[in-house]
Amino acid sequence: MAEKVEIRALNDGDPETISAAFKGIGAGKPVAQYRRYLADQMAGTRTCLVATLDGQFAGYVTVNWRPTYCWFVQEQIPEIQDLNVLPGFRRMGLATRLLDRAEEEISRHSSVAGIGVGLHPGYNQAQKLYATRGYIPDGRGVTYHDHYVEEGASVVLDDDLVLHLTKRLTATSCFVDRSPQ
Ligand SMILES: CC(C)(COP(=O)(O)OP(=O)(O)OC[C@H]1O[C@@H](n2cnc3c(N)ncnc32)[C@H](O)[C@@H]1OP(=O)(O)O)[C@@H](O)C(=O)NCCC(=O)NCCS
Repeated sequence: MAEKVEIRALNDGDPETISAAFKGIGAGKPVAQYRRYLADQMAGTRTCLVATLDGQFAGYVTVNWRPTYCWFVQEQIPEIQDLNVLPGFRRMGLATRLLDRAEEEISRHSSVAGIGVGLHPGYNQAQKLYATRGYIPDGRGVTYHDHYVEEGASVVLDDDLVLHLTKRLTATSCFVDRSPQ
């Protein structure tokens, strides 16, 4: 029987489930993080999408409508953040489905989607995925702790060393700005 993928909004029952699922693979993702996402979603500042396979939690992504990266703030570019698919569900097209939905949501409010990707090996797959989907560097350089890194500077290759990418979206509807206030 074919497996059924569902992409839906984060709900009240998800924070414990998601945190436990990542704990199960040795990743410390606290329940509080997903409760905060729920609160952000209620406030209209973030959209959180969850992927399930036959009803089982498999991954998620969020769209931050109020990003803090300076170029995205200046250009009013919504930022796709915190894309994660559990290892047991990878290479099944779930990140692709999550990003399809995230971009669809963004295209209702903005003609450009943004994303920040880490540069260390943990992000190798994500870098390839975003390039395949048409994301290109924003041309501003690499940031470390939200500051642009100068040529010749020494930085640690950790989660805070980030390259920001953007993608021009094709309209799925008219670009009337109805982004959450
Ligand atoms: C990156 C990640 C979200 C991809 O999830 P996924 O559901 O496996 O991705 P998909 O199945 O939709 O893959 C889509 C494409 O991405 C690329 N890709 C994904 N995983 C890959 C891998 N292990 N090796 C090479 N390419 C890969 C391929 O181009 C793939 O297309 P293909 O399967 O037709 O070759 C997942 O590996 C993950 O959660 N990684 C850790 C967290 C992370 O890096 N998040 C991104 C934060 S910016």
